[in-house]
Amino acid sequence: METQPPQIPIEKTPNSRLRELDRDEIPFGKIFGDHMLTATYAEGKWRDVKIVPYGPLELSPASSALHYGQAIFEGMKAYKSGAGEPLLFRPRDNFKRINQSADRLCMPPIDESVFMDGLAALIRLDADWIPNKKGSVLYIRPVYFATDESVGLKPSDSYKFVILTCPVGAYYSHPVKLIVTDQYVRAFEGGTGAAKVAGNYAASLLADREAKAKGYDNVIWLDGIHRKYIEECGTMNLAFVIDGVVVTPKLTGTILAGITRDSVLTLFRDWGIPVEERAIAIDEVAEACGSGTLTEAFGMGTAATIAHISTIGYQGRDLILPPVTERKLGNRVLQALEDIKTGKCEDPHGWIDRV
Ligand code: COI
Repeated sequence: METQPPQIPIEKTPNSRLRELDRDEIPFGKIFGDHMLTATYAEGKWRDVKIVPYGPLELSPASSALHYGQAIFEGMKAYKSGAGEPLLFRPRDNFKRINQSADRLCMPPIDESVFMDGLAALIRLDADWIPNKKGSVLYIRPVYFATDESVGLKPSDSYKFVILTCPVGAYYSHPVKLIVTDQYVRAFEGGTGAAKVAGNYAASLLADREAKAKGYDNVIWLDGIHRKYIEECGTMNLAFVIDGVVVTPKLTGTILAGITRDSVLTLFRDWGIPVEERAIAIDEVAEACGSGTLTEAFGMGTAATIAHISTIGYQGRDLILPPVTERKLGNRVLQALEDIKTGKCEDPHGWIDRV
């Protein structure tokens, strides 16, 4: 970030918890950095932007987000360069996407200065929370929700925006087993599938729980009309390598336009690897697996990074994919992204922001 952000008031914690962090044992999303950014929207304006010690918020039980779900979020990560400098990966894309989600839920846009300058100030302050251990990073969770004290159904007039951070290890520590659900549907055209709204994730939990009870890590969602075409996994977008072509579901408004997805497709195109964004039937994947032309399948997400898929449960049987050591494209793109994010190699697309 080149411009000097305006001063954001900072109340520093007198009791840093950093020394308690066990860097060898970092679970995903359960330990929080020392500080958080908070901002309020009221009377048509963003105000009271500040950084305070991480802790509970005061919230009325009538807060409209709790009742009618005007709540959206983002996920992003901060890395450290070899020289110890904090680096953010494509934060402006998260800023754009949170405002697209806000628009879908009738929430006012967040000011760029609130999001971008607030983020930079917070990461600068808590830079020591970025773990400098391979496989661990600082996950950043901006969350934005309605706070009107009212149970009348209407868009709220007041909101809270918070950015909190958590040092995290891998979201999936092993190649994932996914199961296709034909019972539940994540999104329909015209719905909220493309927005990062909290309700999408709430609605996925039952299918996820049932998948886990059967020994899978998560669900592959199919389209709501034909129950035939692959959508996404819920924690990540999906890609399949069939006959040397990287095939991924097209963005039709029912799946999230993942920033990792876009980065992966961009790198593959840079490398001259054929990429198709199109409708992909689960039967096509099953047939390709049977004939040996499906060489790789992986998820793409901020939390998940590149998650190799080992098994796809479909119609009562398991499709078993080739060993992870043979996954040339997935492994190559995972390494290339890691190298860009940590400043180890050139950043030809200007994805890195230095804070
Ligand atoms: C992310 O990848 O950042 C997400 O928000 C997915 C969430 C399930 C952890």
